[in-house]
Amino acid sequence: MWKRVRAVAVGALLVVGLAACGGEGASGGGGAGTGASAEDLLVGVAMPTQTSERWIADGNSVRDQLSEAGYQVDLQFANDDIPTQSQQIDQMITRGADLLVVAAIDGTALSGQLQAAADAGIPVISYDRLIRDTENVDFYVTFDNFQVGVAQANALLTGLGLQNEDGTPGPETGPFVVELFAGSLDDNNAFFFYDGAMSVLQPLIDDGTLVVRSGQTTIEQIATLRWAQETAQRRMEDLLTSAYSDGTPVAGVLSPYDGISRGIITALQNAGYGGPDRPLPVVTGQDAEIASVNLISRGVQNSTIFKDTRELAAQAVVAAQAFLEGGVPEANDTTTYDNGVKVVPSYLLPVQTVYQENIQQVLVDSGYYTAEDVERGQQG
Ligand code: GAL
Repeated sequence: MWKRVRAVAVGALLVVGLAACGGEGASGGGGAGTGASAEDLLVGVAMPTQTSERWIADGNSVRDQLSEAGYQVDLQFANDDIPTQSQQIDQMITRGADLLVVAAIDGTALSGQLQAAADAGIPVISYDRLIRDTENVDFYVTFDNFQVGVAQANALLTGLGLQNEDGTPGPETGPFVVELFAGSLDDNNAFFFYDGAMSVLQPLIDDGTLVVRSGQTTIEQIATLRWAQETAQRRMEDLLTSAYSDGTPVAGVLSPYDGISRGIITALQNAGYGGPDRPLPVVTGQDAEIASVNLISRGVQNSTIFKDTRELAAQAVVAAQAFLEGGVPEANDTTTYDNGVKVVPSYLLPVQTVYQENIQQVLVDSGYYTAEDVERGQQG
């Protein structure tokens, strides 16, 4: 009911907004396929937060590449606050956006906005995170999220010596004591990362090669709301107190995202890990955030999964262009991403694991970071 009222209110705002914009060159929603030239078309880009480097990089890449293609761009970051993101999207619609690119904070919280977009004929591209429980999402650009989880689990096993980088059996046989972390339950990706990782780890937990001493292995038990570093740090501190007070060392921690990894590492360092008598456990990650790449280069964090945000942005722009020219973007996956209402046609990009040895090759030689960025742990 509330959503319907809201949709009507948004629709009314839209009419007012369009009337106000009349004659000022704003194309109005749904300009897609009308033969309008790029400069007359406005793309709204809604990103979740600026507290994480990756989303700043994504937002800037999408904006720059859309601008280069000639489009007007309205880029907004929402501070990880759901009402802020809803409001920003409302405003994009009232400003006459012709297309929306949305990386949702909560994948289920935007139904009202997306109904308004659909009513105005505005195509919606879900960016990196799947928007759920609505038919009003037209395309999804992302990475192979299940494969991210598989790669994280493999990095953990490689770090422990249970396997080599090529997947062959490693020098160690275990058992190893590990803990598991997952992402935010309101983000569909968290489930893909977890499922991918557990597809590799569960058999080893079952046969005793890996021992999760806390006993916490379900995604609900190990989730980290909004992927927050401090939340992860607190959980790691609690785990050390509750499950490791007898002095047993933790050998590995599965972490789904670099911010979470840094929280975990801080908790461990505060508890005395990182010295000669008590090495830090193998800690995985994701996103190749510069602060974590620096930690990897110094042997503090074990690894990360690199998702080239330039490529994702480029794919979003290709999809946007297809819609804005009246066509339909090409998908390379039409089965995996069921959002609860429909399977959303998707374009998935591959991912790459980064260890200390290949930072130069994967991140520096490709121009993603400079060697100085890596050394300082900061970009620019
Ligand atoms: C996910 C995304 C990850 C990571 C995480 C925290 O949705 O796929 O790459 O960025 O959010 O921001």
